[in-house]
Amino acid sequence: MQLRLIDWGGVLCAVRCDDETGAAFVIAVHSFALGPAAGGTRAMEYPSLDAAVLDATRLAEAMSLKLAVAGLPLGGGKSVIALPVPRARLDPARWRRILEIHAENVAAFGGNYVTGPDVGTTAADMDVVHECGAYATGRTPATGGSGSSAPATARGVHIAVKRAAAEAGFDELDGLTVLIQGLGAVGAEVARRVAADGARLIVADIDERAVTAAVRLGATAVPVEDVLQVESDLFVPCAIGGIIDADVAGTIRTKAIAGAANNVLTGGAAAEVLQGRGIVLAPDFIANVGGAVDLAGREFLGWGDVEVEQKLAEIGDTLDRVFADAATEHISTDEAARCLARRRLEALRTSR
Ligand code: NAI
Ligand code: PHE
Repeated sequence: MQLRLIDWGGVLCAVRCDDETGAAFVIAVHSFALGPAAGGTRAMEYPSLDAAVLDATRLAEAMSLKLAVAGLPLGGGKSVIALPVPRARLDPARWRRILEIHAENVAAFGGNYVTGPDVGTTAADMDVVHECGAYATGRTPATGGSGSSAPATARGVHIAVKRAAAEAGFDELDGLTVLIQGLGAVGAEVARRVAADGARLIVADIDERAVTAAVRLGATAVPVEDVLQVESDLFVPCAIGGIIDADVAGTIRTKAIAGAANNVLTGGAAAEVLQGRGIVLAPDFIANVGGAVDLAGREFLGWGDVEVEQKLAEIGDTLDRVFADAATEHISTDEAARCLARRRLEALRTSR
């Protein structure tokens, strides 16, 4: 296997391959500038080690942006565990061994990298990582953790959806067609919230049970492969990243995009095409910060419900600022958000 060298602008990226379990482990630390690096553990299959490294590094960068823009005193990091078979087909003993090795890797950072849950891992998995000697956020409340970050993420995404809708010229969600891709922990809760606002839901998920639950809410289901062709007023991606490249940005039929999926764009070119077509994009690292606010706020900054909700409410103000900057500077909202994150990071660093 050949690993391409990449210049990703981060601090370091550690890779470990394990023959016994067949898993490959990647920990990418993008920045220590504001404090220890934080970012969840993603466990899934990847087509190659290259793909796993690329995902970890891009996700770690997104964490740096997310944490800086929210003013949280942490750097960005991410773990990727490239699984030999889908998570559902791993026997419990092998999964446990994978988590033990992961904990050993995280512990090697000596507290400078803190992990937590992400796609493919749960609060219960974080209990195991923690029990094996590596600090993990988002553990179950029974072991002193703050539990799933998904409800807070969904509340933040709901705020972002409403702001993006307003920027696209809609006063309220009532009567709008909202297309949601992915009805997992975050997407299902966002679906409930926008349905309660009176939106007409169109949904897609590879998991039939999740689709059935949304249909009970009154949603119309579409096949997962059709999502990017379906017309909507608002598109809410809550499944996987990398779904909007410049071609998709040129053809997607919606007025605004705001969702939870990290790195929903493949790059800046897609953001420019959306901007050129007048499609409002709420950058994902602003819209989906709720989980990080919930975990980091409660576990590192001693926040309670009031402070968490105040920080979530800031998502709307941050988006308004980004929409205004993008219009004034004639740049995409993605670029405006990155500039804002860099400015906030610099300000926080010099005030430390
Ligand atoms: P999840 O794993 O609970 O849900 C993801 C859902 O997407 C699942 O129902 C899955 O079946 C579905 N899915 C996967 N591939 C799909 C496809 N091609 N088409 C349609 N559906 C598909 O994950 P969760 O926690 O809901 O997170 C969703 C997204 O939000 C992820 O990208 C995650 O990185 C991001 N995110 C989550 C946060 C959290 O606190 N949970 C925080 C910030 C970002
Ligand atoms: N994985 C989530 C995210 O991408 C939540 C998380 C935040 C996990 C911070 C660990 C640390 O935001």
